[in-house]
Amino acid sequence: MSPAANKAAIIGGGVIGGGWAARFLLNGWDVAVFDPDPEAARKIGAVLDNARASVPALYDRPLPPEGTLTFCETLSEAVTGADWVQESVSERLELKQKVYAEIAEHLPEGGFIASSTSGFKASDLASEGAPVVVVHPFNPVYLLPLVEISGEEALRGKALPVVTKIGMYPLVLKTEIDAFIGNRFQEAVWREALWMLKDGIATTAEIDESIRMSFGLRWAQMGIFETYRIAGGETGYANFLAQFGPSLKWPWTKLMNVPELDDDLIAKISEQSDAQSGHLSIRELERLRDDNLVAIMRSLRRTGSGAGGMILSHEETLAAGGEVDSLPVTLRRAVPVTWTDYNGHMNEAAYLELGTWATDGLMQCVGADADYVASGKSYFTVDTRIRYLDEVHRGAVLTVTTQVLDGAGKKMKLFHRVLKEDGTLAATLETLLLHTDLTSRRACPPEPAVAQALESLAEAHADREAPGAGGAVGQRN
Ligand SMILES: NC(=O)c1ccc[n+]([C@@H]2O[C@H](COP(=O)([O-])OP(=O)(O)OC[C@H]3O[C@@H](n4cnc5c(N)ncnc54)[C@H](O)[C@@H]3O)[C@@H](O)[C@H]2O)c1
Repeated sequence: MSPAANKAAIIGGGVIGGGWAARFLLNGWDVAVFDPDPEAARKIGAVLDNARASVPALYDRPLPPEGTLTFCETLSEAVTGADWVQESVSERLELKQKVYAEIAEHLPEGGFIASSTSGFKASDLASEGAPVVVVHPFNPVYLLPLVEISGEEALRGKALPVVTKIGMYPLVLKTEIDAFIGNRFQEAVWREALWMLKDGIATTAEIDESIRMSFGLRWAQMGIFETYRIAGGETGYANFLAQFGPSLKWPWTKLMNVPELDDDLIAKISEQSDAQSGHLSIRELERLRDDNLVAIMRSLRRTGSGAGGMILSHEETLAAGGEVDSLPVTLRRAVPVTWTDYNGHMNEAAYLELGTWATDGLMQCVGADADYVASGKSYFTVDTRIRYLDEVHRGAVLTVTTQVLDGAGKKMKLFHRVLKEDGTLAATLETLLLHTDLTSRRACPPEPAVAQALESLAEAHADREAPGAGGAVGQRN
């Protein structure tokens, strides 16, 4: 019998509570939601649809089976038996404190409450004695990894392993401050934006273009300090600061003043924002944002930078491998939007990419892994034949199995089957590789352990048919 899933109680199921519900569910936790809003189930359903269409595409391994979602009539029903309680009710101190008093009655010995607050300090939230720690996420919670954790040291210590397990990056604040790091920073930028808008210097659209055409791109992969380190050039940070530091004292910024959010300014922002983005619904904007985030985060996997590194380390904790039809599973992944054409079909180059990573998976199975490559040996691809057999759409979860057709001497001939969720064959890839010495760049026999592992797979697969293998281009065999 498999062990019972962990249970998360989500108190307040709006934008952020819905995002938390999706993150826990997709990481295999059961989720119990309490929110008196009669629309809560519909709203969370829409967030979950977005999450299911985006999160699996981040990983090259399958996420655990989705947990069960329950909507509760009472707060006590949601909290009872929960391993984690995430409070995400509206940002009002007295409301949060009232809710904590109720939650505290149902917490087990040693239990605590994690708050999503955007700005209240844990010590203010906990002033009535409830065990509260701030675990502040960013929207969309199911995709963005950062959580800022602050509060009592013992509670911070309890929160840390849980958020890491569900693929998040915990930034622990040892000193309590209002708004933590991320929001303090965002508000500084936002204040400047509001001033420029109020003073008629730039529109909402112009301000947004200035971000996304320039430093917005830089910040996803290096942040501000590493970016400026490069800007200093070979002479380093001191040079950069000498050049640009004095401008901090020039009257460029109005950071300490906040423009009055009067009716005029609110109308100006609303009108300009409608002109900029009103042609898209909020759901359409969310899907656009999620597709873009997945594309950016997948690119960052390549170098392990920022959120890409976080995905890689979370992926290490997910179960890999297994077998289908007695063949090793060498890859399983969901089709991201970047793999699809304007019709929503997976494009032909993506099939080759699947094959590439499946070959990599097989190499790891036989011990030709990163350490082996670092030792100066590897396999080079010399030929590949792809047969495109069925349509594949975005979000589809594809499983690749690999049959070793030939593992003798320098040769490694593989036959990858790409299977859809219902077991239909979407494609096959037959690929020939030669073992190569990375110093001489010439073919050579593999090390004995690798040779033996490959040969025994070839032997085990020898009696199997490989329909479609060995043909010429255009043949239906
Ligand atoms: N929106 C963001 O970008 C963001 C980001 C990080 C953190 N937060 C924080 O997350 C929290 C929630 O923000 P949101 O944007 O999801 O707000 P929201 O208005 O979308 O959701 C709040 C939800 O709380 C529910 N609620 C109110 N009283 C309740 C009660 N007594 N018990 C249970 N549910 C109750 C409401 O019905 C509503 O569905 C706030 O503390 C906010 O500061 C927001």
